[in-house]
Amino acid sequence: MNASATVSLYTPRAAEIVSVADLTPEERLFRLRLCDGSELGHQPGQFVQLSIPGFTEAPISIASSPSRKGCFELAIRRAGFLTGEMHLKKTGDLVGIRGPFGNPFNLAELFDRELLLISGGCGLAPLRSLIQYCGDFPGRFGRVRILYGARNPEFILFRDDLQQWIDSGSFSCSLTVDNVTSGSCYEGATGFVHNLISTLDINPADCSAVIVGPPLMYRAVIDQLHCKGLPDDRIFLSLERQMRCGVGKCGHCTIDHLYCCQDGPVFRLDQLAGVKGAI
Ligand SMILES: Cc1cc2nc3c(=O)[nH]c(=O)nc-3n(C[C@H](O)[C@H](O)[C@H](O)COP(=O)(O)OP(=O)(O)OC[C@H]3O[C@@H](n4cnc5c(N)ncnc54)[C@H](O)[C@@H]3O)c2cc1C
Ligand code: FES
Repeated sequence: MNASATVSLYTPRAAEIVSVADLTPEERLFRLRLCDGSELGHQPGQFVQLSIPGFTEAPISIASSPSRKGCFELAIRRAGFLTGEMHLKKTGDLVGIRGPFGNPFNLAELFDRELLLISGGCGLAPLRSLIQYCGDFPGRFGRVRILYGARNPEFILFRDDLQQWIDSGSFSCSLTVDNVTSGSCYEGATGFVHNLISTLDINPADCSAVIVGPPLMYRAVIDQLHCKGLPDDRIFLSLERQMRCGVGKCGHCTIDHLYCCQDGPVFRLDQLAGVKGAI
């Protein structure tokens, strides 16, 4: 490894917050630009290590496509120490960025196929990077269907994007919420996201599925995809584990013999056969 590669792996680069927008009561979208003027150089599915001096680091998925140049976006839920401090940040403030890290969605395995992009909660953030990419290169993919589940209408992420994706004609979007709080004017579907799959017509010979969401969602979604005849080598999923270094050195993120930070976070389901504790 040469010296400059070492610096980029272990040393945070300064990034300026270009804009901040509320997505839900707990999540904000931050648009960032690296202060040295370079592109982040990521691929859909990768993450960065976000740091604020005195407030440690946390892995955060990149929520925008590499085809959108100049800036990149992070959708951040206020969860604890670092993300709580991040939510106090304003336009013009500086943060640290290491990465991009991790195994991305393998675009070559998705090209020319019908895609089912299935997410729950915060999982729409990393999928948004892939969705934007599909929108920017429509000829490279077959029909793209987005299935998204939020815990209730207040927590629907990327509302404007969801509408824009439908209006663009490039995607179909199906949305559901776990439950509706009394007094809500929400009139859409209720129930868990895996219930949306049973109603779809799927040609298993021509379809790949990508799943990103909370751990509880995976087994039910995978069972539904199996019912539709989808084989494990065309089901891709992104897993979350606690991380520190992000580069395969500290062992915090291990899943059996795999390192989630480097072998993942994106895995193909057949690669997880026999891996204890993966799902
Ligand atoms: C690959 C990857 C991508 C991620 N992408 C995003 C993203 O796009 N947006 C976002 O808001 N968050 C994302 N996260 C989760 C985020 O990194 C954690 O919530 C992180 O702990 C927040 O740091 P904190 O200092 O604010 O919280 P802390 O003070 O560290 O802790 C908050 C709570 O979260 C728990 N926790 C810590 N790490 C994880 C984890 N990986 N999974 C589940 N619970 C955890 C802690 O035990 C604690 O209970 C991602 C995590 C991974 C591994
Ligand atoms: S986070 Fe350190 S080995 Fe994966």
